Amino acid sequence: MSNYSGMKTGIRNAVICDMRSDTVTGPDAAMRAAMATAEVGDDVYGEDPSILALEHRMAGLLGKDAAVFMPTGTQSNLCAIMAHCGRGDELIVGNTYHVYVDEAAGASVLASVSMHAVEVDEIGAVSPDAVRGALKEDDFHSAISRLLCLENTVGGQVIPLDQMKAAAQVAWDAGLSVHLDGARFFNAITVLGCDAKDLADCADSISVCFSKGLGAPVGSILVGSSAIIAKARRNRKILGGGMRQAGVLAAAASHALDHHFPKMAADHKRANALADALRSLDVGTVQSGTNMVFFTPNAGGHADLRAHMEAAGVRIGGQFPTIRMVTHRDIDDEGLDAAIAGFRSFYT
Ligand SMILES: Cc1ncc(COP(=O)(O)O)c(C=O)c1O
Repeated sequence: MSNYSGMKTGIRNAVICDMRSDTVTGPDAAMRAAMATAEVGDDVYGEDPSILALEHRMAGLLGKDAAVFMPTGTQSNLCAIMAHCGRGDELIVGNTYHVYVDEAAGASVLASVSMHAVEVDEIGAVSPDAVRGALKEDDFHSAISRLLCLENTVGGQVIPLDQMKAAAQVAWDAGLSVHLDGARFFNAITVLGCDAKDLADCADSISVCFSKGLGAPVGSILVGSSAIIAKARRNRKILGGGMRQAGVLAAAASHALDHHFPKMAADHKRANALADALRSLDVGTVQSGTNMVFFTPNAGGHADLRAHMEAAGVRIGGQFPTIRMVTHRDIDDEGLDAAIAGFRSFYT
């Protein structure tokens, strides 16, 4: 069952705490003010100063030549895949990764790229051996191994830098490129305690989402070499993602980097507190990392639990058997307390 199962409620009643995803975050007054006062221009003509500034800033932060602002993380990953690969090429990807599982097979459907999915380890990492085992020989019967797609964080887990580098190095040694789906790049570096460049060094291109834990309403960015970003910009046009006065969105992203990124550790702390509270109830299996908690109730009763939590003002996902809960900047201590109280009253 995917992370997205049973997510759409279509309901907009009062919730104290919406834990379905960090994508539910809304722009607060300060972000809206930044958006309202953003300088804008036609970005397809390269004339939007807010987008140019964001692209320049992110390229510098990640230590690459260039960047291109994207409407979504899915489009950003696909533009990167199309920039690295041609028809009949193959990418290697973790079998739980968003590119493989949750992007409607866009790489195959739209880019004619086959996907070779490999087992990930217990924290979601692709091992060097898994990459080695997936490399195809240079034989005209086979697709051409061209790209390794990594992800970090994976299901809330942070992959250490040495593991990222080890997998990437096998790919580089075999002449492949490496793309990192860093939808939650800033959650990862918050825990790794490293510079953005250190994680970005593990890949040739990196996609980062502003619309998740960073709390912007829309937007992702792809960062890489000038050559890759020039191709990705063309691919974005092909996919219909060229935007005009989207500086209002870039301003939200820049605001998030300034004001939300420094506070991400608080989301991780709340996820940890929720996981501890669930463990103390001893009613199921609990796994957590960064801003995510995965809970598998021993006794089932998922629909009843969900209804009980909803009545308590807490919205959780509809996945089965493992429920995913995500903390984010729109969940404060009051929301966390409501969630913990909701679980306690259901189970005791
Ligand atoms: C790991 C990962 N990559 C990519 C994406 C795609 O982002 P978007 O929803 O902006 O297309 C998501 C979305 O949740 C994600 O979790």
